[in-house]
Amino acid sequence: MSTFATELREFECAARESELRNFSLSYLKSIPFAPNKGFGGRERELTQLEELLFPKESEADRVAISGLDGVGKTRLAMQIVHRTEKAQPESSIFWIPAKDTETLERKYTQIVRKLKLPGSEDPEADAKKLLQNHLCGDAGQWLLVYDNADDEAMWFGETTRLKDYVPYNKAGSVLFTTRFEQIALKLAMPDHVVKLPTEDKVMAR
Ligand SMILES: Nc1ncnc2c1ncn2[C@@H]1O[C@H](COP(=O)(O)OP(=O)(O)O)[C@@H](O)[C@H]1O
Ligand SMILES: [Mg+2]
Repeated sequence: MSTFATELREFECAARESELRNFSLSYLKSIPFAPNKGFGGRERELTQLEELLFPKESEADRVAISGLDGVGKTRLAMQIVHRTEKAQPESSIFWIPAKDTETLERKYTQIVRKLKLPGSEDPEADAKKLLQNHLCGDAGQWLLVYDNADDEAMWFGETTRLKDYVPYNKAGSVLFTTRFEQIALKLAMPDHVVKLPTEDKVMAR
């Protein structure tokens, strides 16, 4: 790759990171966040995801989007968040970047402090447990997104087992994005995995 191409790629990555940072901060302030700029297409997947996440006849559920890097998983999840914010203004929406443990833990701490959950200011607090307990209780309607659930050891390993911290509530929907179908299938039921094929990379835009 030429130096220019590398720089351009780094710039694009930085822009996306910053976009996501702003995105996750703005929902915490509970203000309508910036629309998912430039998003297009994906009507079929949006409908499918909404039916799975917010079923009319049954309890809210866990759903995963899987597909290769760059295929559009994060953007699709962001669009779901955007639409949910509009359609269910009373819902709480949480966005947790799960790329690595450090980023994830930081976001968890930020969320529980923002929610002022009892014990959240304690530096020893287990923020994951605090948020789980809160969302398993009487927290109203909520949507929790874990973006980039790509590290299998982090989710199912002996020491961390993040999967055990995923809250369950019949009024709570959970959306994962992951590069790996085998992770998606361990996080959600097979009929709750929405796969984005590689060729969609071009077609979605
Ligand atoms: N539906 C879409 N409409 C417009 N642009 C899109 C769409 N899906 C993805 N993109 C663009 O493609 C790039 C990769 O998308 P992203 O969601 O970050 O992929 P992934 O999370 O699968 O790695 C981004 O720059 C994004 O803006
Ligand atoms: Mg992504």
